[in-house]
Amino acid sequence: MKWLTLVLLPHSFSSFAQDAKRGEKLYQCHGKNGEGNPKEEAPRISGQFAWYIVTQIKKFLSGDRKNSKMMPYIKKLSGKDINDLAAYILKMTTK
Ligand code: HEM
Repeated sequence: MKWLTLVLLPHSFSSFAQDAKRGEKLYQCHGKNGEGNPKEEAPRISGQFAWYIVTQIKKFLSGDRKNSKMMPYIKKLSGKDINDLAAYILKMTTK
């Protein structure tokens, strides 16, 4: 059965790994490079730790934090979408 683990492992890794390229496609609003969007009062988020982004999005989804403008965008996201977005945001730089 060892061979089976070896065959299945790469696939399971790729489906859980954070995929910044995918995250880039899902990303919207807080400025092109995550520098923030003053007009929308959306704060700077570029380079923020992935765990923090994931935690905050979950807080908005659960109602612990409230922002009605963001809800239409984030309520459609799957767990993988949120992880991928966080991976992309971590890589963003405003320099
Ligand atoms: C995929 C879409 C989006 C993602 C992943 C996202 C992500 C986030 C995150 C992680 C925070 C928390 C920042 C922090 O605690 O430092 C936040 C806050 C915020 N976002 Fe977004 N956002 C999205 C879309 C939007 C849109 C479309 C708008 C406005 C049109 C928006 C406006 C705001 C505002 C005003 C806050 C501050 C809310 C508060 O502190 O109550 N966001 N966003």
